[in-house]
Amino acid sequence: MPFWKRAESFGFRMPHLGSDNGQEFFPGTECVKLSGTRLMQELVQQCRELASSKYSGIPKPCLAVILVGDHPASEVYVAHKRKRFSECGFETRLIRIAEREATPATIEGMIEAVIDDLNADASVDGILMQLPLPDGIRSTPLLDRILPAKDVDGFHVLNTGYLASGRYSGLMPCTPFGIFTLLQSYGVPLEGRAVTVVGRSNIVGKPAAFMALNARATLSVVHKITKDIKPYTRMADVLIVGAGSHQLIRKEHVSPGVTIIDVGIHTTPSGKIEGDVHPEVLQIASAATPVPGGVGPMTIAMLCVNTAMACWSKVH
Ligand code: GUN
Repeated sequence: MPFWKRAESFGFRMPHLGSDNGQEFFPGTECVKLSGTRLMQELVQQCRELASSKYSGIPKPCLAVILVGDHPASEVYVAHKRKRFSECGFETRLIRIAEREATPATIEGMIEAVIDDLNADASVDGILMQLPLPDGIRSTPLLDRILPAKDVDGFHVLNTGYLASGRYSGLMPCTPFGIFTLLQSYGVPLEGRAVTVVGRSNIVGKPAAFMALNARATLSVVHKITKDIKPYTRMADVLIVGAGSHQLIRKEHVSPGVTIIDVGIHTTPSGKIEGDVHPEVLQIASAATPVPGGVGPMTIAMLCVNTAMACWSKVH
């Protein structure tokens, strides 16, 4: 598993949650639950242990989060991230930039100044600018302003290039890194198998597609403009859905035995959290991530791992 080599070089070990290790099924089905929560707990434990043993002589990893404006979902995500970091024994710093009456150009200037300060601050190991930014603010130049070595989101063009070329020497985007860690941990094979990615975002779809290719899967990517996604989703052995469309994937979209990775997070009017995949699919899938408790916790777990690596690479 070359994509884990770098984490292993820092002392991380890929947990194995396969059939011999307390495997759970979705109730009333034969579909294995790919528990991101369990795997996240194991990785948080490893972060704690490595910080207090192998890396005990140096300051704890520190993540700076830049939060711009008041996006309610972002507030929740950032709170979750800070909670996990504190469980690892790691530090976080929150920098808020208010939107108020400032123009987009003024806000961009404020974010640039904050990024420059954090880049120069030796006590900060990782910098994460929470997305989405308010309307009118261009994220790409700001993401590329973060030092690649502190880019724990893996969104800098240099880290994107490392991933696309299959070198894995940079920092990888946390959601796809988490997805492929979950697949590997549960022993889901990829080599020579059909992987279909639904969605082409820079945060999930595109980096997930590169990771699938690097694992020597046969890749299809479909998205909003694709005329008919069914032929592609039906051929999938592993279907990664980051479409941002509530219950887009139904029974007729998949073949029996498929492994489903559901990246969607949607809150229903009654307050339930549901994904991009309809629960009826669990009747025919062989394994799937729950929502919540699948991809979400893994994204945060890999942010902890990335920040640890960004910190420990200074003494590595
Ligand atoms: N917003 C939704 N997902 C992410 C992510 O992985 N990183 C950042 N920075 N913002 C996000």
